Amino acid sequence: VERVTIPVLQRCKEERRAIVMTTAYDAVTARIADPVVDVILVGDSVGNVCLGFDDTLPVSMAMMNHHLEAVARTRPRAMLVADMPFLSFHLSPDDTIRNAGGFLQRGADAVKLEGGGKRVEMIRALVNCEIPVMGHLGLTPQSVNAMGGFKVQGRNADDALRLLDDAHQLQQAGCFALVLEGIPAELAARATESLTIPTIGIGAGPSCSGQVLVFHDVLGLAGSHYPKFVRVYVDGRQLLQEGLSRWAADVRSGAFPAPQESYRIPDGLRESIVN
Ligand code: KIV
Ligand code: NA
Repeated sequence: VERVTIPVLQRCKEERRAIVMTTAYDAVTARIADPVVDVILVGDSVGNVCLGFDDTLPVSMAMMNHHLEAVARTRPRAMLVADMPFLSFHLSPDDTIRNAGGFLQRGADAVKLEGGGKRVEMIRALVNCEIPVMGHLGLTPQSVNAMGGFKVQGRNADDALRLLDDAHQLQQAGCFALVLEGIPAELAARATESLTIPTIGIGAGPSCSGQVLVFHDVLGLAGSHYPKFVRVYVDGRQLLQEGLSRWAADVRSGAFPAPQESYRIPDGLRESIVN
């Protein structure tokens, strides 16, 4: 099978074929996602989706490496992108390169990091080391405290112009794609048509070069309340709980396990062991 690479994604934008990206955090979710999508993101959303944190700020490099390694062991054909967690790309180019380079050594094809012009120095340092970078603008969850909550961004003229300027700075710095999160559809459309690199939207309307949603959101595994931009395709929690409940009922009734689910002592040895 042909692997998905940066030129493949660039061609998708040029030929207007939508790029599909989702998250995976372990081998199970990676094996489900890989035959379906173009890009698998080991997102720092692992913090709230899998690890029980309220936001992504407590996610560390050690946590990300642990989850990336599990996904990478499945050797996906999709492009594998690893998300740089809070404080892993802010301190110095050295530290940033070591963290991102560690992701590539663990099997990632590229890294993703949040932020605009302020992050250009670090992005350039990574690109200079042959580490491909996906940018991420708009409602960047690591900025939750600065934003005063998870709020749609780029809704007034100043913010919209700043976002477009940030997008062009990231492209200029060498990003091969941008995630646009939580911004008006018109602004995402404008960014997508004025950039040469692909945009991947989440809560950014239909005009991006592709779409990303969190795996557990699409499949109804994340909880009971979902943001406006999520479409839940399977009530995964209900479906899985039904299966588990049928097994529990069979255990309690004695219907599980049946003879064909049990091991037997070979015929010739029965007497000597059982008696
Ligand atoms: O961490 C994540 O899942 C993300 C995507 C939603 C873009 O950053
Ligand atoms: Na993220």
